[in-house]
Amino acid sequence: MPITKAVVPVAGLGTRLYPAARAVKKELFPVVDRDGTVKPVIQLIVEEACVSGIEQVCLIVRPEDEAVFRRYFTETLPADVEARLADSGLVRAVERVLELGRHVDYVVQPQPEGFGHAVFCARSWVGDAPFLLMLGDHLSRSETATPCARQLLDTFDRLGRSVVAVKRTPEEWLHLFGTIGGSPLADMPRVYRVTAFAEKPSVADARARLRIDGLEAGAYLCFFGQYALTPGVFEGLQFAIQHDVREQREIQLTSALERVRQAEGGYAYEMQGERYDVGVPDGYARTVVAFART
Ligand code: UTP
Repeated sequence: MPITKAVVPVAGLGTRLYPAARAVKKELFPVVDRDGTVKPVIQLIVEEACVSGIEQVCLIVRPEDEAVFRRYFTETLPADVEARLADSGLVRAVERVLELGRHVDYVVQPQPEGFGHAVFCARSWVGDAPFLLMLGDHLSRSETATPCARQLLDTFDRLGRSVVAVKRTPEEWLHLFGTIGGSPLADMPRVYRVTAFAEKPSVADARARLRIDGLEAGAYLCFFGQYALTPGVFEGLQFAIQHDVREQREIQLTSALERVRQAEGGYAYEMQGERYDVGVPDGYARTVVAFART
């Protein structure tokens, strides 16, 4: 069954970007896109989902933020502003935002209990079908003509099992990312059968059980920020919530991925593209520079 729905959690606190994130949610931080238009991060994410064939996107929002996101994706321009923008091409840019908005739904996460908890909030919206999950504070740039999300969906279509997008990542960054252990599939380039998921592993743990044949020394496969998942992940998340399985005080996705892997098997796809973590100061700076350069 092809994936047509995407979930994007945007209900985190974004404390690593304080004090700015007290004023503006990190998912609304501005980025200058390659056409010179200034867009909030969330718009770039929804655009990538839609050009990749997704029909409906669900934003998981904090109760007090729902109106902010809704307004951005639905509010038409007041006549005086429209008149001022008339010759600039920006009226069309705003119309495109409203067109995208027709594909966006909203579900509230009552408390910021963690990324995994936010995903669980989408359970009824997703229903009994596979879905695409995209981090709300990560952007991507494909190295091919195929957008990153589409590359992942194509891989899911071939395997019919959960696939996590990954990226070669140096050892010193392991504290920032979920990481996999696994082995490459002989008949599918860039695809790995996962043998373990670990959330932000220590270097010692990674050296002991997450090394991957064929990767250069000191490199690991860490999450890219996009996942194509079967609805089985909600069972894993429900277990984590019921048993209060927390990592760094939060209900995370990784333990649920590990449960799905044990039940159904799991795969990883090495993305042909770059990931940009907007949720940390260096990553945001890197994003702004890279996108402006096109
Ligand atoms: P992070 O793991 O970066 O957490 O979220 P955070 O709370 O936003 O940021 P810090 O750690 O305080 O700096 C990854 C993604 O998951 C969403 C975030 O909005 C972000 O897009 N998220 C996180 C939620 O939707 N709900 C949560 O409870 C936590």
